[in-house]
Amino acid sequence: MRVIHHPILPDAPVPDCTIYYDGKPIPAKSGEPVAAALLAAGVRVFRETAKKRRPRGIYCGIGRCTDCVMIVDGQPNVRTCVTPVRGGMKVQTQKGLGEWKEG
Ligand code: FES
Repeated sequence: MRVIHHPILPDAPVPDCTIYYDGKPIPAKSGEPVAAALLAAGVRVFRETAKKRRPRGIYCGIGRCTDCVMIVDGQPNVRTCVTPVRGGMKVQTQKGLGEWKEG
């Protein structure tokens, strides 16, 4: 689901690493937003709301609305639309407010 050939943009992002979404490997490009890698892999639900467990995904895409928050490497409430990919990241769907990693 990536745009490979674009009439204006010179370089389409080519995956060069792997992140793990709920334990599943997802190809990603280092430095691209985590949300972009997930969208390219077909993921649309990033979290569930705290009270009614309604699905939420990317909305503003600029780090303002918090609809895209997920648990990243054990830390909840990470805005994935403005968080760059690092190879090996573990990204989890956030249920409600999320749980903090012990330690
Ligand atoms: S989509 Fe709005 S903060 Fe990420």
